[in-house]
Amino acid sequence: MKFGFVLLKHIITFLLLVRYGATDKNNGFSDENSEIFLDSVQLITKYNYPVQKHLVVTEDGYLLNIFRIPKRGTPVLLVHGIGDSSDSWMVLGPKSSLAFRLADAGFDVWLFNSRGNKYSKGHVKNLSKKQYWNFSFEEMGSKDLPATIDYILSATSESKLSYVGFSQGTTIFFVLCSMRPTYNSKINQAILLAPVAEINNIKIPLINFYTKSYDMFTFLAAAGVNEVFSSNVLLNIYHANVCNLKSPVRWLCELEFYTNFGLSKLGKFSGERLPIITSHIPAGTSSKTFLHFLQGYIFKSFRRFDYGEQINVKIYNSIIPPMYELSKIDTPLILVASESDWLSTVEDVKVLRENLPNIVNYVELNKTLDFTHLEFVYGERANLVINERVIDFLQT
Ligand SMILES: *[C@@H]1O[C@H](CO)[C@@H](O)[C@H](O)[C@H]1NC(C)=O
Ligand SMILES: *[C@@H]1O[C@H](CO)[C@@H](O)[C@H](O)[C@H]1NC(C)=O
Ligand SMILES: *[C@@H]1O[C@H](CO)[C@@H](O)[C@H](O)[C@H]1NC(C)=O
Repeated sequence: MKFGFVLLKHIITFLLLVRYGATDKNNGFSDENSEIFLDSVQLITKYNYPVQKHLVVTEDGYLLNIFRIPKRGTPVLLVHGIGDSSDSWMVLGPKSSLAFRLADAGFDVWLFNSRGNKYSKGHVKNLSKKQYWNFSFEEMGSKDLPATIDYILSATSESKLSYVGFSQGTTIFFVLCSMRPTYNSKINQAILLAPVAEINNIKIPLINFYTKSYDMFTFLAAAGVNEVFSSNVLLNIYHANVCNLKSPVRWLCELEFYTNFGLSKLGKFSGERLPIITSHIPAGTSSKTFLHFLQGYIFKSFRRFDYGEQINVKIYNSIIPPMYELSKIDTPLILVASESDWLSTVEDVKVLRENLPNIVNYVELNKTLDFTHLEFVYGERANLVINERVIDFLQT
């Protein structure tokens, strides 16, 4: 079903290319939609903020491009979700995006990009594809984040920074502070939006299909399908077109967001910005990351990657992979969850809250608001419901 859908996408993209012509610079989009083709640095520049690009090298040689909107204030690190990138903090435009709001409030804004996404595909060595893509969210938490945090603290001569993560951006925070607990003291506070660790109660429509296909995914990953949710120009053009308000095939956009995220009303996304938002996602990640999340759902716990019994014994000295020790996370935490979130469910967040020792604040958005997962960063109401709160928390 999923694969048929991919094929359909390619056919429609082709038709759109014929219609608009691939040589036209803006692919037939009017000026206000020209942001579709802007990367993080260009988006920041377009809105007249200063921008810096920094290269972080991890201890295992991965090259990460992170961006900064420099200010004298407290450094704040913004960490994107799965298969996503730093773009996600800018695509709501200058008045509503968290990155710009924080810069306006005087914070020194740093934008993370995990290994494997479209900005962070380099490595110091010439690795084979198989070697390069051999990572999951664990390495993002245990290697990318420490290198990034140390880099920022050294560049700013600060002893601590504040952390804001969304979805997988919270997962890798849990990995960091449980596997490398000395990092707890390098963080003032962490604001965790739609936190994801245990995902026993996930409700997205495709989860049963994914679970049943676990063996097939493992097989595909072993056979060389290293990357998932990758970013490419055709897909960007496809999204920008079918998700356009005027698109006669907008139902395709709705269908995709429903099957992937359980999102039934695209109307919750700012209409005219939707082509810009959807053309910036996805940004790519490893198949192993996706498999690791799926394992969490299948095994009903938040554990290290399962390689099968024999290799587990070699790597972990145990048949089953060890759990991430949430009790070691003593950074002050603020959690924001929503009753209408099908990925970060309030049932799972309840278990998290029982296991995390230092939650200083918890916000639960109720059913009346009907606030879904992607709305935390991409929704029309994100600025009012989320960004306002984040700025308030960071200022106190
Ligand atoms: C990198 O390795 C591949 C084979 O894995 C080889 O074909 C290529 O020439 C190498 N590139 C460099 C710059 O060494
Ligand atoms: C991938 O990483 C695991 C764990 O670090 C290691 O055991 C395995 O040999 C690696 N595989 C490849 C192809 O590099
Ligand atoms: C849900 O939240 C909104 C906004 O915080 C509030 O106004 C409303 O009273 C709440 N509804 C219920 C049933 O708790």
